[in-house]
Amino acid sequence: MMEPNAINRKQKLFDRWAPNYDWVFTSVFYQAIHKRLLEYVNLPDKPNVLDIGCGTGRLLTRLATEFPNLQGTGLDFSAEMIRQARRRKPDSVRPRLIYVQGNAESLPFADEQFDAVFNTISFLHYPKPEQVFSEVSRVLSPGGRFYLADFAVRWQTSLLDLRVSPGGIRLYSPQAREQLGVQAGLGCAGHYDLLGPVLLSIFTKQTV
Ligand SMILES: C[S@@+](CC[C@H](N)C(=O)[O-])C[C@H]1O[C@@H](n2cnc3c(N)ncnc32)[C@H](O)[C@@H]1O
Repeated sequence: MMEPNAINRKQKLFDRWAPNYDWVFTSVFYQAIHKRLLEYVNLPDKPNVLDIGCGTGRLLTRLATEFPNLQGTGLDFSAEMIRQARRRKPDSVRPRLIYVQGNAESLPFADEQFDAVFNTISFLHYPKPEQVFSEVSRVLSPGGRFYLADFAVRWQTSLLDLRVSPGGIRLYSPQAREQLGVQAGLGCAGHYDLLGPVLLSIFTKQTV
């Protein structure tokens, strides 16, 4: 488990990164990932979606532009990322997107509230991945989808734990992701290569 100190340091790292986030990696690499992810997205008519670890909100803006009836909520534990996301919301999508500060491990939302949950390049930072899967499953409506896009490992059945940032990062194999899904009542509908080592896994909440 990550000690509280490491969580604070990770939060501070993202707070410092936030003002320049869109001008560094994301403008090329992460936004290319968002664009490719969109090719796999399947949503109902008036979707209510959540983006966990939303950063500066670029994915939600893209989704709201593509789906004119979409309502979106972005959640991030970095106050500065949330501030940037609110500031950068384009007028064309402004009324349909809201941003809240919070932890992926304890989502401040009601059960079965969302038709889809998105998570891009954030899962690797979570010290309690089972807890995040369980929360995603709780807030998804039956039949709802979880789109998890992150760096993945392919050569082992479990995970790779790297001590490269406060609290470390963890990369999962497709099988390890599936296992997390099973435990949370989310069936894996498939894995898709997005860009380089970034793998998209789509999960569906089982209907009872
Ligand atoms: C590399 S950025 C990715 C941002 C965005 N999803 C994108 O695709 O550009 C990772 C984000 O995850 C957030 N994050 C990391 N751990 C988190 C947690 N436990 N709860 C909520 N957000 C978290 C960070 O603050 C950061 O904004």
